[in-house]
Amino acid sequence: MSKSYAFPKDFIWGSATAAYQIEGSPLADGAGPSIWQRFAHTPGRMLNNDTGDVACDHYHRWREDIALMKELGMQAYRFSISWSRVLPEGRGKVNPKGLDFYERLVDTLLENDIQPVATLFHWDLPAALDDRGGWLNPDIADWFAEYSEVMFKRLDGRVRRWATLNEPWVVTDGGYLHGALAPGHRNRFEAPIASHHLMRSHGKSVQAYRALGKHEIGLVVNIEPKYAASQSAEDLAATRRAEAYMNRQYLDPAILGSYPEEMREIFGEAWPDWPQADMDLIKQPLDFIGVNYYTRNVSKHDETNWPLKVSPVRQPQHTYTETGWEVFPQGLTDTLTWVKERYGNPKVFITENGAAFFDPPKAENGRVRDPLRISYLRQHIRAVHAAIEAGCNIGGYFVWSLLDNLEWSLGYSKRFGVIHVDFETQTRTPKDSARYYAKVVASHGAALSNEDD
Ligand code: BGC
Repeated sequence: MSKSYAFPKDFIWGSATAAYQIEGSPLADGAGPSIWQRFAHTPGRMLNNDTGDVACDHYHRWREDIALMKELGMQAYRFSISWSRVLPEGRGKVNPKGLDFYERLVDTLLENDIQPVATLFHWDLPAALDDRGGWLNPDIADWFAEYSEVMFKRLDGRVRRWATLNEPWVVTDGGYLHGALAPGHRNRFEAPIASHHLMRSHGKSVQAYRALGKHEIGLVVNIEPKYAASQSAEDLAATRRAEAYMNRQYLDPAILGSYPEEMREIFGEAWPDWPQADMDLIKQPLDFIGVNYYTRNVSKHDETNWPLKVSPVRQPQHTYTETGWEVFPQGLTDTLTWVKERYGNPKVFITENGAAFFDPPKAENGRVRDPLRISYLRQHIRAVHAAIEAGCNIGGYFVWSLLDNLEWSLGYSKRFGVIHVDFETQTRTPKDSARYYAKVVASHGAALSNEDD
């Protein structure tokens, strides 16, 4: 007999996107440039010189996109707000047309019974703030709180679930340590400072929310469980470093009030002693944690890999996605049970999960067949169910992504959507995986028992 899948009554099903990846028109109607606008227009930074100038043209096609969500039966939508649409200089003057855009989006979602979940920062820092040092300037916590307040005042009540930051680890690792993402720095001394001010900003935004908002606020992190390549002391220590760096660096201070001790081992003299008052600011009561899960990592010691001295080990017999990530659903169950055990079983949403596989660039007769993505989703949502059975407090699941979109510096070369986007015509076509996910949603998970959808 096949297993039956029952999810908690109030478990919600949705999809996720981010502003710079889908909106296009980054400078329309008085918006200021973001660091991604600048980065994308700097020669050599983006694959194929792609930019977010048009992206999915969601800035104009948002009604059509909401209609598609409705058609697929989505119950929630996680999107991000472009800070520099709302505050073109990052602080001070508010751009009413930017605010209006998000208000219309939220109101139309609500008219369609789709819960809006808003992320305040998904990587597109206003360029004007980067000019003042960006995440390296301690004043950014006040700037972020000011922006957060503008949004809470306008939309709290209609938006009932807010996230402060999306994946601070990626912001610092990609933006300040390895330089592949905006603002493109590569500096061991900057990365810890950027991390810390991201977390102070998170803390201040949550405080602002408690003064102004009445619903839920949380932090979204990406977790990639680390498994040691061998039981050698060196590999075990390397795995511990990798895990501290990626998985504990942000949740530990936010929930437990301190950074992992391995941070100093990793960064040496570049890791400062932070004042206790900062740690108190960072540790704010949260209503939920958003976990983004894509893959796992098997880790081995490697002297040559700066600065962590850890390298991933490829698993020869396993399936890898188009971004070179191993498909490893058990890692999602492991991640969720790890969060439960380490952090006292907080409420968790899987705020992103999905995969880029090769999809045909054009739909054929209105159809895009993507069996690997169906299998990925089936296995990973089953893995969420296993975590619920193990006692984890999981509130919902958001597939990444609603639409094929700009995969940051990889441009349009990777398709993560359950809806196919033809970037020449902007035609949207729900892939087979969207139809599959719609069945899972409509059956509240029961359809997961079928093997052959
Ligand atoms: C990010 C998304 C990104 C996805 C796939 C996450 O790190 O939040 O913006 O597109 O992973 O790489």
